[in-house]
Formats: sequence, structure tokens, C-alpha cells
Amino acid sequence: MADRELGFRRNAQGLLTLSGTPLGALVTPLFEASRSGTPAYVYDLDGLDAGARALETSFGSAPHVTAYAVKANSAGTIVRTFARAGTGADVVSGAELEVALGAGIEPRKIVMSGVAKTDAELDLAIARDILAVQVESIEEIGRLAARARAAGKRARLGVRVKPGVSIDSHAHIATGHDAAKFGVAKTDLGAAWEYVDRHPELSAVGVSSHVGSMLREVDPYLATARVVCEVVKARLAGGHALEYADFGGGYGIDYGGGAAPAPSAFVGAALELLRSEGLSALKLVIEPGRSLVGPFGVLVARIVQTKESAERRWLMIDAGMNDLIRPALYGAKHRVELLDAAPADPEWRVVGPVCESSDDFGAHPLGRAPSGLVVLRDAGAYGFVLASEYNGRPLPAEVFVKDGRVVHVSASPGRESWVARRLQA
Ligand SMILES: Cc1ncc(COP(=O)(O)O)c(C=O)c1O
Repeated sequence: MADRELGFRRNAQGLLTLSGTPLGALVTPLFEASRSGTPAYVYDLDGLDAGARALETSFGSAPHVTAYAVKANSAGTIVRTFARAGTGADVVSGAELEVALGAGIEPRKIVMSGVAKTDAELDLAIARDILAVQVESIEEIGRLAARARAAGKRARLGVRVKPGVSIDSHAHIATGHDAAKFGVAKTDLGAAWEYVDRHPELSAVGVSSHVGSMLREVDPYLATARVVCEVVKARLAGGHALEYADFGGGYGIDYGGGAAPAPSAFVGAALELLRSEGLSALKLVIEPGRSLVGPFGVLVARIVQTKESAERRWLMIDAGMNDLIRPALYGAKHRVELLDAAPADPEWRVVGPVCESSDDFGAHPLGRAPSGLVVLRDAGAYGFVLASEYNGRPLPAEVFVKDGRVVHVSASPGRESWVARRLQA
């Protein structure tokens, strides 16, 4: 593997390759054997593994937990790959917590976030003694205390602080500004700590924050991290102990429009900040999702037909917004390319089969007579996990590639399953 180039790349013949093997050669036999059809997500396990390991190395000897945000991609094969690389998990539901634990992630490397955790979810987190439930309101602290009392246990908690920092991202992925529903407002922190300290069934172990997603610069991350440090220092100055400071995730990736700083650059800046604040003894927790999986997945789709009129060329594919909703939800753009030819003019407007005008993947240079298979690049994060069965379209398949071979296929539930379930409903 060492002498092969990792990742999705185009070779001299214009074929898209994965770690040197033409992607078409990997996936076409699957489609022919109907173990999986299009649309299908294809993941590069070698790339995922190498990225996670490089990030772990970037901490040096500093105490830390890389809490992979499972929401970005919860496939067991992927979470197990990260568990083996030493990562922890950030989960936002009981189900995600079960996936993280089932994939082999140690409980003390797991944090649970979310503004409306149910009692059952709090119970599970308490029972499994995870690193911390990151509480997002004073009301939730009260509920956590009640669940801990009911279980006769102590609940470990982190307080998620709303940093009051705005970022230059789509409004739907900004979480740290004052109007966001996430986190405890700075003005409420005094009351939150007071509540915690009056309840011996609660053990406050950390402070966290998450400013939002698709950060293209380190500065807003550091602005948020400074707020966390301020809160941590005030707590320590009050004579209380803490185990960790969690600066959240949000590291951007290159969707074709320009590179973002590498995850290790965020970690380097975070470690430097902790040092300058005299907080190096604390465990640094980070919560990256997109950056660990986004570049390592593509969505493969089949061209169904073209449609040409005087003013426009459309290319209709068999993947829609139900398979990959990021363009419709966030105005995101994923590069669409032919599997077996490099991008070339003219541009085609690539659209899916769903009966919504927002089922539109944008204009892409796909040559004079596009045919066969296309790939939607950088679809490893917030792709399959946001897929739905809208319009009677079954969930896509997922194909996992390692060492130039398909090592696992998670088949689509198929059309018949959808029809049967709807008839039974
Ligand atoms: C609390 C929390 N942590 C981490 C993340 C992961 O963000 P990203 O995938 O941008 O790294 C999210 C994403 O929404 C989040 O809400």
C-alpha cells in the first residue's frame, strides 16, 4: 500500500481511480451481479484510516480525545475503522451511542451532545458511564440529576457553552451565535454551576463548545476555544476540578472550491492555546465529523437520460436529493464527474429524479456525449446519513473499499421493501 497513491484520483487515461484501481472496475461487477445497484456510496477505508491516524499523531503526547461526530457517517465499518485508529465519539442520540459502543469505542472516549436528549438516552449514557453528557441547558441539568438519582448513580457531565461567535458558513450549519438553540448562554453559567454543585449525584468534568461547520479558517475556532478556556479557568479558580476542555469540530474540507486548513492545523492551534492559558494538564477533546469522512466517499449514479432544449442541457441521473440532500438543504456544491472521463466542456445541469425543483446538483463540465456512470465527489459526510425514501426511492447502497478491493457491501433495502412497508402502513 505504501507505494500506491491513496484516495480518489484520475489516472492518465482519465479514469477515476481509488488507491490506483479504476473505480469502474471495482463497482461495475457489483452492479452487474445486482448485489448493489446505483445509486451507491463508495468509501475509501484506507483514506479514512490514514486521515484518522494522522490526526491522532498530531496531538503528540498531549492528553486528548478525538470524539468523531458519528452523525457525519454512522456506518459500522467506518466507526470500527476509527475505533481501531484510537478515536472516540461524539454522539447525539441513544442509537448513535449504541453504534459507537458496538463498534468498539471505549465509553470514556464518548461524549453525548444534543438539546433534547430523552430520559432513555440519558439513562443509557449514565449506565454506560461515558466521558460526559454535554448538557445544553439548566433544565437539562435538572433532568440529568433526576435520572442519576433514579439509577442510584453519579452522572458525569460537561457544560456546553454558547460561545457567541458567528462564522462565515451557511446559516443552517452555524451553531455558536447568540440566537442558536445550542448550549448554555454565558449569562446562565453561574446558575448552571450552582445547580450542579448543589447535586452530589452530578459530577462536572468538562466544558465544551461547537461553533458550527465548514470552517475555512482557524480563527473562529480559536475564538470559541478562548471562551471555553475562560469558563474553565473561572471554574478551576473556584476550587473545582475539571478533566477536559472540548473545543468542538467543524473543520472544513475542499469541495472543489478551495482548500481548508488540515484538521491537524486546528489541533496545533488548540494545543498552543491550552499551553498559553496554562491548561495543558487538561484533556483536549475535539469533535470532528466532516473532515474525517467527507473526502473519502463518493456517490456513484447512473445517467438515465439527457434533455436538451435551446437554452439548456440537462443530465438526468438516478441519484436524487433523497440520496444526497446537501445541495438542496445547504446550497452545497459537489463536483459531478464522469467515472471514465476527465471533466470537459460543455456544462450540463445535473438533476435527479425527485419531483422537487431543488433536486438539482448544479452545472458541471461533462463533455459532448455523457453516458454511463457519474460520481458526486466528497460525499462521505452528511450523505447517506441524511438520505430518505422520498418519492418511493429506496435508500442507496454503501460499498466499502480497502487495499484496492471491495471488502463489504451494505445493500439497498430495495424497492420491494418500500412498497411492502407502505402498503402495510
Ligand atoms: C456538537 C457537534 N459537534 C461536532 C459536530 C461535527 O461538525 P463537523 O462535521 O463540521 O466537524 C457537529 C455537527 O453538526 C455538532 O453539532
